[in-house]
Amino acid sequence: MKIALIADLHGNYPATLAMDRELNRLQPDEIWFLGDAVGKGPQSRDTCDWVRQNCTRFVGGNWDYGIGGKEFPADDYYWSQLGPERMQWLRELPREMEALISGTRFRLFHGRPVTPLMYDSTDWAMLSAPFQAHGETYGGVIFADSHRPFLRTLDAGYILNTGSVGNSLGVPKAHGILIDGELDSETPAPMLMSILSVPYDNEAAADVARNDPELPFREAYITEVTTGIYSR
Ligand SMILES: [Fe+2]
Repeated sequence: MKIALIADLHGNYPATLAMDRELNRLQPDEIWFLGDAVGKGPQSRDTCDWVRQNCTRFVGGNWDYGIGGKEFPADDYYWSQLGPERMQWLRELPREMEALISGTRFRLFHGRPVTPLMYDSTDWAMLSAPFQAHGETYGGVIFADSHRPFLRTLDAGYILNTGSVGNSLGVPKAHGILIDGELDSETPAPMLMSILSVPYDNEAAADVARNDPELPFREAYITEVTTGIYSR
């Protein structure tokens, strides 16, 4: 069973289409979404619709709730692009989910609590906390939000980050992760975990923003898409 996990599309439709082409070639059995379909980029309606049409499991991200719940008045650009039906879908996304793969129980959510993992940390309490939740001890955590993909083990278990499809930092390509294992199986079994890195036309993505003077933080988005350097 091949599962692709993607997140942080952030209104970058050229990057999403590049990822879509690669996923069509790889033919995963399922595509799971870990939050932030919208915001930042100029084509949030298209990336939101892509997620809804192609993914089978969903958790929301901070931008999905912020825009869907009208938390920040400065986001009215996105509200008018998305409309009330998509915004309702965004704000009602579940906060997290779990999945059993090859005998490992994974906890999946968008992020924040383990964002320090982007950096070098040996704080055991901080690193192990995400593995304990809802009276469960998880053997793996999968999250997004940092816009940088990684796969590693901690003393508490596996920790995986999807990276970002549309707003990658560090390496400005469209990223996701792939897991090949036995879905819904309690039995320990081999499992393949890998990072999917897909080049796309970054200048074409920046041009969509250049042609949209209403886009909030437009220059920051263009810099991030073309260089992978966080700019807000
Ligand atoms: Fe994000």
